[in-house]
Amino acid sequence: MKDLNNQKGLNSIWIDSLARNIHPDSSALVDHLKTVHQENAGFTELCASSCRDEIGRNSYEWLAELVPNNESLSVLDLACGSGPLLKILFDRNKNLNLKGIDMCPEELALAKARLINSGVNLIESSAQNLIAINDNSIDIVLCHWALTLMDPIAPVLDEVRRVLTPKGRFVALVDGPMSAAPGYKEVHDLIYSYVQKEIPSYGKIDLGDPRARGSESLSNLVKKAFPESKVTIETNVVSLEGPVIKVAEIAAGFFYAAFVLKPETRKLIITNLSKLLTISKESTDIERQGRFSMPIRRLLVEPHIK
Ligand SMILES: C[S@@+](CC[C@H](N)C(=O)[O-])C[C@H]1O[C@@H](n2cnc3c(N)ncnc32)[C@H](O)[C@@H]1O
Repeated sequence: MKDLNNQKGLNSIWIDSLARNIHPDSSALVDHLKTVHQENAGFTELCASSCRDEIGRNSYEWLAELVPNNESLSVLDLACGSGPLLKILFDRNKNLNLKGIDMCPEELALAKARLINSGVNLIESSAQNLIAINDNSIDIVLCHWALTLMDPIAPVLDEVRRVLTPKGRFVALVDGPMSAAPGYKEVHDLIYSYVQKEIPSYGKIDLGDPRARGSESLSNLVKKAFPESKVTIETNVVSLEGPVIKVAEIAAGFFYAAFVLKPETRKLIITNLSKLLTISKESTDIERQGRFSMPIRRLLVEPHIK
């Protein structure tokens, strides 16, 4: 994993469209996501695996909880990235038939390295076209922090429905409501304020389909693809505490928006984030402690019990 502070400001067709006030198309989105992940593979898990909820679960564990421990099920991790969720599932239950799909080869390379000799099938594919997966073949589709990046999203949901067995379940971890986590909005606004100085429309236009970010709009989207299923959305908060500079770096490293910035602007953000996230009174930055909290949602789509 690279040191996130050493990244250069990032260029992609998506950013270029925003700079010219043009709404980027779906191929520009794919190009942008691939560029960010190519240069920073593994960045999601750096933050997501260190942030924990009140009872100590990180968001991968919160999602993995919905996979029964004692059954031989077929499980697909959609947009598996570097594979942390698949690793948790593999370590827990060797009877699972695990598959992971992602469109970014650099992320998949990390997943392959961590799951070497595990028998987990890792496939490079777009979530909009799961050509490698048969109809009605998967008991559980999981998707950790990726659904909100996908546009168009309707074909993704249609593909999830196609590959699931009739009793199958779809479980996704997505962004939660900003107001649920104390201080999260301030962190978000600070990072976006710097990005908007360079690219004013960043934020008005963001990654993915905006409907995936709201509870009601997400639920409506999902109900269209799964009209006869039960849809539940729960909210939770995960937090990270530690030396404030480290916490600020990890927090900034979680925001896609921060990757478009030049290294010197990033440094400035870390300094200002550190002030925002400080929770102790020590006099030096090295001694000071910080806390970062993130709101998350867990979407569960399952058949109604008859
Ligand atoms: C924020 S990362 C999450 C990775 C992993 N699930 C995790 O939480 O550690 C988003 C991932 O989604 C993948 N992704 C985004 N859009 C995709 C699409 N349309 N098809 C396949 N993968 C996609 C990216 O390549 C990236 O690995």
